[in-house]
Amino acid sequence: MTAQTPSPLSPAAWEQRYQAGTPRWDLGQPAPAFQTLLASAYAPRVGSALVLGAGRGHDAIFFAQRGFEVTAVDFAPSAIQALEAQTQAQNLNLRLLERDIFDLVPEFAGQFAYAIEHTCFCAIAPSLRPAYVDLVANLLTPGGELLAVFFTHRRSGGPPFGTTPAEVHQLFEPHFEILSLDPIANSVPSRQGEEHFGRLRRR
Ligand SMILES: C[S@@+](CC[C@H](N)C(=O)[O-])C[C@H]1O[C@@H](n2cnc3c(N)ncnc32)[C@H](O)[C@@H]1O
Repeated sequence: MTAQTPSPLSPAAWEQRYQAGTPRWDLGQPAPAFQTLLASAYAPRVGSALVLGAGRGHDAIFFAQRGFEVTAVDFAPSAIQALEAQTQAQNLNLRLLERDIFDLVPEFAGQFAYAIEHTCFCAIAPSLRPAYVDLVANLLTPGGELLAVFFTHRRSGGPPFGTTPAEVHQLFEPHFEILSLDPIANSVPSRQGEEHFGRLRRR
């Protein structure tokens, strides 16, 4: 009997990728764009932050280390376990949720000052992007911000499914004021010229 191959975007498929070894998307460090942001004069004030599709949690830990009250969500058990081990080793206090992001509402509606996006938007089916926008708008407080590293590569297929600045404007503008959406200068070498950083405020 052969084991069934899970559908590529299912929790089982992401879990298999984690169990298979070092996941190729895992930078082993926070996204450089977040490091630049928090070191800048425009750094957001600390507050509650939800990290979507957090993976092993390098971004989640980074924001927690800088005083944010972090909730990290991912539906792959191995990712959450790896993040839990890190939080214990570093004696950090993060809330970890092994959940589908689309199941967070209504329970967590309106609870977060920030949503942190880094390679989750590119990991869901493109048909779910309007639902993702609604979800993030629902999870944020009024005036809350989405801080997002968008993967703007132009290759076909996925995951990772690329996006464009034009699509970000078209999808998010009904719910968000786009404060900035700029090419990232200090991406890791494998993503040079293929990322935009967006700061979007919920209307
Ligand atoms: C490309 S990985 C990125 C992980 C992490 N953000 C990073 O940069 O290392 C995408 C992550 O999103 C998670 N994911 C995808 N769809 C999800 C969903 N609907 N709900 C929760 N997690 C999801 C996967 O399990 C995976 O850990």
